[in-house]
Amino acid sequence: MTETSAQPRVLIFDTTLRDGEQSPGATMTHEEKLEIASMLDEMGVDIIEAGFPIASEGDFAAVSEIAKRSKNSTICGLSRANFKDIDRCWEAVKHAARPRIHTFIGTSPLHRAIPNLTMDEMADRIHQTVTHARNLCDNVQWSAMDAYRTEHDYLCRVVEIAIKAGATTINIPDTVGYTAPRESADLIRMLIERVPGADEVIFSTHCHNDLGMATANSLAAVEAGARQIECTINGLGERAGNAALEEVVMALKVRNDIMPFQTGIDTTKIMNLSRKVSTVSGFPVQFNKAIVGKNAFLHESGIHQDGVLKNVETFEIMRPETIGLSAANIAMGKHSGRAALRAKLKELGFELADNQLNDVFVRFKALADRKKEVYDDDLIALMKDQETTSTHDTLQVKRLRVICGTDGPQEAELTLSIDGVEHSIDATGDGPVDAAFNCVKMLYPHKARLQLYQVAAVTEGTDAQATVSVRIEEEGRIATGASADTDTIVASVKAYVNALNRLIERRKKTAPGDDVKSVNYRDAG
Ligand code: KIV
Ligand code: ZN
Repeated sequence: MTETSAQPRVLIFDTTLRDGEQSPGATMTHEEKLEIASMLDEMGVDIIEAGFPIASEGDFAAVSEIAKRSKNSTICGLSRANFKDIDRCWEAVKHAARPRIHTFIGTSPLHRAIPNLTMDEMADRIHQTVTHARNLCDNVQWSAMDAYRTEHDYLCRVVEIAIKAGATTINIPDTVGYTAPRESADLIRMLIERVPGADEVIFSTHCHNDLGMATANSLAAVEAGARQIECTINGLGERAGNAALEEVVMALKVRNDIMPFQTGIDTTKIMNLSRKVSTVSGFPVQFNKAIVGKNAFLHESGIHQDGVLKNVETFEIMRPETIGLSAANIAMGKHSGRAALRAKLKELGFELADNQLNDVFVRFKALADRKKEVYDDDLIALMKDQETTSTHDTLQVKRLRVICGTDGPQEAELTLSIDGVEHSIDATGDGPVDAAFNCVKMLYPHKARLQLYQVAAVTEGTDAQATVSVRIEEEGRIATGASADTDTIVASVKAYVNALNRLIERRKKTAPGDDVKSVNYRDAG
């Protein structure tokens, strides 16, 4: 069974750029946020939560620019329950064709204790802030943070107040990922049954994944009457993340026979968005992640391969093309020409201008010289590498040599171009990566601390490329870097240098702490 326009519509509210970006280390640059927002808009996301405007100048600028550029999606900004936050949010989203103000407060006993408000005081605050938001914008979403641990009578009371004050969407977040599917459904059903005016608003679900139930809880809420799902690409988000957009959307599509709801999402855009978010956030997608994991459509065992060859439905419940994966992963080699490379990259979601194609072609040839067969994943890694480096970067890796042995410290010799001038040095370390990183630190002294260093092989075989992700932190500023190369040490140094370049850019643009969330969003006051 396929989705039909007669089926009830479930709105998809994407919060990758707000709740996703809030996840420690997932900070994105201004340009990256704009690019992701435009991809979400094209994919058919109904509402994009573009950021938390009062949190920083950077957040404000990103939300305003996304609002100005938006085509079809409603653009939403987050604000706590106070006039200053709400005004700032409106200033940012008002440029959108379809703006929305999202205001929230923690309603559970634990959360009420933070601003130290009595139940009555909080109810009054909700009335005032939602009224204020509604006077600015006719599309207002109100969220009861930690709704699932809020007393039912009190939750009904404050939801009713928010509706009366003009909220058009009521969001019921499982902030700590604590609920389970039956309870998730029961709470939404109870609110729809008990709260006067409930039929005039859209109920929304916002589930965190601490117990691995975010997708199931979101779908259960929809079955009980929620008509908006809040989610993020790749399930990015604080702690264990949020419900994953690709999971809720594909579950509604593939199991439309038992969940007859439609969304407006063009699912063929899922894979490219997943790759983009993974690259810019520096959060790799786990191999066995539902829908977008590298292994999600692989059939390794003999029985499975045999079955799939006879009839693909034996072990496959959805076709890879549905999420934008090309069906055949045909290898390219050193004899493949420019036109073939262009066609393959287009199929993988990368449309290149002629001069960009020339650069990529040179790198592709170099890779094909080192590696017999270049697979789709190799090309994606190469493109990610291309996207993260620029000839304008302050630091550029020119030459690297390492000497490894079973005993004694390892040695590295590195030549780095700093602002166009080449400098060389050698250093030792505990292993070749450590030695090479020591060279970088000596050539370009800095206080940034390494928070994450992660290596993964792109394909099988000893000639496989390694992708390396690095996250560094300096005075509250976080920067991520990534690179790919058939040589793991080269990829590591390039990823480290890439992160440093992004940190340098960030230092130029902001005062310390300005580009991190300096406002504590848990503080509802
Ligand atoms: O998890 C949560 O409660 C939130 C709210 C701000 C909606 O992200
Ligand atoms: Zn959340």
